[in-house]
Amino acid sequence: MLIQVGQVLSAEELARLRKILAAAPWADGRSTTGAQSAQAKNNEQVPLGSAETRLLQQIVMTALNRSPVFFSAALPKRVLPPMFNRYAGLTNAFGNHIDNAVRFIPGSQGERLRSDISGTLFLAEPDEYDGGELVVEDTYGAQRVKLAAGDLVLYPGTSVHRVEPVTRGTRLASFFWVESMVRSDEQRRLLYDMDLHLTHLRETVGETDAAVVGLTGTYHNLLRLWADV
Ligand code: NI
Repeated sequence: MLIQVGQVLSAEELARLRKILAAAPWADGRSTTGAQSAQAKNNEQVPLGSAETRLLQQIVMTALNRSPVFFSAALPKRVLPPMFNRYAGLTNAFGNHIDNAVRFIPGSQGERLRSDISGTLFLAEPDEYDGGELVVEDTYGAQRVKLAAGDLVLYPGTSVHRVEPVTRGTRLASFFWVESMVRSDEQRRLLYDMDLHLTHLRETVGETDAAVVGLTGTYHNLLRLWADV
């Protein structure tokens, strides 16, 4: 399941990120990738551990932590500190691959995170570049994703995916992985749908309506049943 989360970043945050990225050092993107993925990967990243990366990570994490839609869709237990990439010129694509299921958390004492969900936060506007679609092989077929700057797409860590070659301009993005409190994509989807409908009901019939209270209880009881915190 793919979930689009619109306007995760404010215009001001986006401008700050773009300014930092414009002055950041860039390195071969293969440094953070497994051996099989590395053969398909041809892009650049801001080096992990650089001062720029830390600043960029703070801005993105602040935005994610404030987003109720991100929380409801991902039910995050932990988020791997976001990374930043660009596709342009000769380093312009990332062929079909699957992300590593388990990732070491940089800067931790060997702590690991299970990558239940992959996230791509678009940082360039679609008209700034040609190509560069994120293509996710979903159960419904290949989904092609190219969103406005500041918008986020979440997709299951289990999906084969790629980034199409960028043939003009520069595609900038942040990418990260989420370990969810709810490991199953199917269960997370049910909870997300239920939360969307409950939000609508709260707005239309009110918070104290007996059915709203009852269904809110059911939501939390399902979360209690399925969540691993
Ligand atoms: Ni990937």
